[in-house]
Amino acid sequence: MVLEIKKYPNPILRKKSEEIKEITPEIKELVFNMKETMEKNQGVGLSAPQVGVSKRIIIVDTPEGPKEFINPKFFKKSKETELGEEGCLSFPRLFLKIKRSKEVLVKAKDIDGKDLGVEANGILARIFQHEIDHLDGILFIDKISFWQRIKIKRKLKNI
Ligand code: CO
Repeated sequence: MVLEIKKYPNPILRKKSEEIKEITPEIKELVFNMKETMEKNQGVGLSAPQVGVSKRIIIVDTPEGPKEFINPKFFKKSKETELGEEGCLSFPRLFLKIKRSKEVLVKAKDIDGKDLGVEANGILARIFQHEIDHLDGILFIDKISFWQRIKIKRKLKNI
């Protein structure tokens, strides 16, 4: 089932999401629906708060296809950063250049409760950072300068 995407400034986007303690049938269904929702909207990443569920789940479009990461955490984030353009399904038509770590190591669980470890760089590393930020209520508009924010203020009102 394709879920409704919560758009900025919906307050759920600012809430800190809760850890998943047990992978229940409801969680499995949510993961399935999130993958469908991401693909339908041609996104490369999606977090549970964006579909109205304050839980620590993200879907990332990996080279092997959309994959779920449950309770994802960074184990490494490179000091080296790079600028790159990002969009967000909660901010239609807004694209911003954001500085992110070049390389990350993410650990998480998959839908079967198995441990996952992913080393990512470039766009994939960027997607992980954008989506894990969502779980802490952090949005990509928080990462731009004050002057950049003033420039996009009118655009934000129209989102
Ligand atoms: Co986003």
